Amino acid sequence: MSSSPSAVPDYLGDEDLTQETRDLISSLPREKGWLVSQMYQFQGRWHTQALLQGLMECQKRFEAKDSDIILVTNPKSGTTWLKALVFALITRHKFPVSSGDHPLLVTNPHLLVPFLEGVYYESPDFDFSKLSFPRLMNTHIPLLSLPETVKSSSCKIVYCCRNPKDMFVSLWHFGKKLAPEETADYPIEKAVEAFCQGKFIGGPFWDHVLEYWYASLENPNKVLFVTYEELKKQTGDTIKRIAEFLGCGFIGEEEVSGIVKLCSFESFLGCGFVGEEEERGIVKLCSFESLSSLEVNREGKLPNGMETKAFFRKGDVGGWGDTLSESLAEKIDRTIEEKFQGSGLIFSR
Ligand code: A3P
Repeated sequence: MSSSPSAVPDYLGDEDLTQETRDLISSLPREKGWLVSQMYQFQGRWHTQALLQGLMECQKRFEAKDSDIILVTNPKSGTTWLKALVFALITRHKFPVSSGDHPLLVTNPHLLVPFLEGVYYESPDFDFSKLSFPRLMNTHIPLLSLPETVKSSSCKIVYCCRNPKDMFVSLWHFGKKLAPEETADYPIEKAVEAFCQGKFIGGPFWDHVLEYWYASLENPNKVLFVTYEELKKQTGDTIKRIAEFLGCGFIGEEEVSGIVKLCSFESFLGCGFVGEEEERGIVKLCSFESLSSLEVNREGKLPNGMETKAFFRKGDVGGWGDTLSESLAEKIDRTIEEKFQGSGLIFSR
């Protein structure tokens, strides 16, 4: 696979498409996108050509195992953070969080947790069966387009949702940083319009969120729904929920020592019970301040050429006010109200 000349990762580019993808996309609805030259509508969602190819390969080839953990997000909803947290959680016996040589101190979370459709596009020969147990992966694939075995197996899905205004603003700045020339002539008003019409990378965002939201209500053992905002406000408690969902709940130190012998669940996902100190260690290790100050996340690059610092901007809740005018924020709010009405999901204004 060739590398893009700019810092735009290959999977946002137009190159390296197989004949099969070219044939398929020739019959799909298309739109000129922000950041990408063309987006294609497949199974009701807008995708870049490269990620569509990755998605289709993933649908064909990915075999989920019951022990798999799949992190799902809309882009810019806290993927990097969630990857770091869950990686630290499930590997803490192998890599104690307090150790000075924890992998997260020297490796960007995106290199520790493979991005399914990105890997299927960029490195089609990557062998997912070689990942250590339990396998931890992430994706932006909509629920209805997930590979069949993800749905039919007992693998676990952790979905992280973010306030759409913050998500949009994060993506807006991400695109500008990655591809200043490609995005220069695209006004933010037009981008908000496209976002609210659902014609945006990965969109419509509301469908993505809602289908995982309802799946989490219908099948809470399969899908856990968390939000960026609750992770920010109550990181420890939210990690506890994730740990419990994955079968490795946190409990107090004393209980740990009492239960440890009985803890045959330890074999389940290999992550056992952990104490409060470990929980605090994970929160600290994965905090915005900690991760964003590491050399690997300030100076590093992913194999596709993307600078790792692009994944760390402000890490705030409600920071959209710096970028969106009142009328643009109002437009997104109206869309949110309309699309999420009756779902039980409420986003702060
Ligand atoms: P902002 O652009 O609002 O700062 P993703 O990882 O899905 O691409 O999302 C990126 C967003 O998550 C960015 O938001 C980034 O700053 C924020 N982020 C990255 N690491 C974080 C962390 N450890 N804690 C909180 N937010 C984090």
